[in-house]
Amino acid sequence: MDTLPLYIGGRFVPGTDVSQPVVNPASGAVLAMATRATREETRAAVDAARDAFDSGVWSGATAMKRGQVLLEIARRLRAAAPELARLETENMGKPIIESEFDVADAATCFEYYGGLATKITGDVNPVPDDALSLTLKEPVGVCAQIIPWNYPLLMAAWKIAPALCAGCTVVLKPAEATPLTALALARILGDFADLPPGVVNVVTGDGPVVGAELTASPRVDKVAFTGSTATGRSILRAAADSNLKRVTLELGGKSPNIFFADADWDAAVEGAVFGVFVNQGEVCSAGSRILVEKSIHAKFLEAIVEKAKRIRLGDPLVRETRMGPLVTAAHRARVLSYVEQGRHEGARLVLGGQVPEGMPRESAYLEPTIFDAVHPGMTIAQEEIFGPVVAVIPFTGEPEAIELANATPYGLAGAVWTRDIFRALRVVRKLRAGIVWVNHMQPTYVEAPWGGMKMSGAGRELGRNGIDNYLEQKQVHINLNENPIGWY
Ligand code: NAI
Ligand code: MG
Repeated sequence: MDTLPLYIGGRFVPGTDVSQPVVNPASGAVLAMATRATREETRAAVDAARDAFDSGVWSGATAMKRGQVLLEIARRLRAAAPELARLETENMGKPIIESEFDVADAATCFEYYGGLATKITGDVNPVPDDALSLTLKEPVGVCAQIIPWNYPLLMAAWKIAPALCAGCTVVLKPAEATPLTALALARILGDFADLPPGVVNVVTGDGPVVGAELTASPRVDKVAFTGSTATGRSILRAAADSNLKRVTLELGGKSPNIFFADADWDAAVEGAVFGVFVNQGEVCSAGSRILVEKSIHAKFLEAIVEKAKRIRLGDPLVRETRMGPLVTAAHRARVLSYVEQGRHEGARLVLGGQVPEGMPRESAYLEPTIFDAVHPGMTIAQEEIFGPVVAVIPFTGEPEAIELANATPYGLAGAVWTRDIFRALRVVRKLRAGIVWVNHMQPTYVEAPWGGMKMSGAGRELGRNGIDNYLEQKQVHINLNENPIGWY
């Protein structure tokens, strides 16, 4: 059995507690044993990142050099794509074609920030005195980056690429269940002499130990987190109680996917199904509430049920598969408890809600699940389920659609389907969400900002401004007047 080390200071070091089974959720097979890093081991990683940052070995490299290193990482990711995609699918359960897409996306992220490295510039400020006022951009320092299990490699790329672009150093903590591709990425980085030791460190282990140590550390300057709103809160608290480190949070959602009667029918039906069932519904921006105009409600429900029934569920390594298992059996149990809650609160289960038959006994599959007659106040209409479960809620007219869409504590994403451009734009303006799609749902680009309003997060990642999360601004005032101040 493979035992997985930590990656600290440019070396793979065996952990003291190698007791985290890494499981293939399609079979229940244990793939490897990962390290549960201790607080001490976590501190060693922070020290390595701190030393690397303070030495200036990375922040002092030319912008051109940093950009070239990022482009080389992208090239190596693409070269290793088949192996990385397979690893991702084996560990996480997503269909292989989605993993292939994710690996390509991760490489694109390194390419984008590779190009951006040489475009980080400061400002000259038009101050009234006889002075030259400058704004310099400097790397924020040591960044703890804590990521979830739904897009393990892609989330690592979203975090590491902009940090390295800015000249920061990193301690990355993958999710407990999904360390394989992050460690594979560490191996790619470790083979690469141009990335100095300690610039990127990867520490696997438990959130309440490794994550808590990172977020409380006075030697960490910034935390970037993607995951649950509950954990996001505790991270803000840890930052407040330690050194007021900078925090960006990309949290959960309960995103509305809104369908008006005039929408293109086939595109809308597919968009409703894809919007919530892609990646088994384990997507922060999942369109987990389908809001549909009352006049088409019955027919639309029937059409999405028919389409969802035909989703090919099975072995995620098979190319035709479009839905794999959930990430772990424990997570499936959590999702199933929401299904039970939905039934209990009186929603009508019209599809799924069951463990499919004929799957390996230890696997974590769940059927695509559709609830109709969902009241907006029900638990399944308010809380993030993070699985293949959708709540269908009918509405009458645009104002009600908007009111329902905004009626959760979340504000990550939303989509509106209509052929009326004026209506589309009115709805776009009224949605309290960080990302809004018109006649589509889910495409995400490294070139465009990503993040949520309300309780879906703080700050925006990606895009040109995503780099600002990793930069401090330094105002520099250069007096051009040689005379004394003349005040006294
Ligand atoms: P989580 O938010 O607890 O875990 C995400 C990451 O945070 C993991 O690396 C975990 O080890 C780490 N973590 C956990 N506790 C921590 C702490 N006290 N300090 C620092 N880091 C900590 O999410 P979890 O438990 O995996 O899933 C629970 C629910 O969260 C899911 O059912 C889903 O609703 C939501 N979730 C949302 C995600 C999103 O992308 N919006 C991603 C993952 C989960
Ligand atoms: Mg948790």
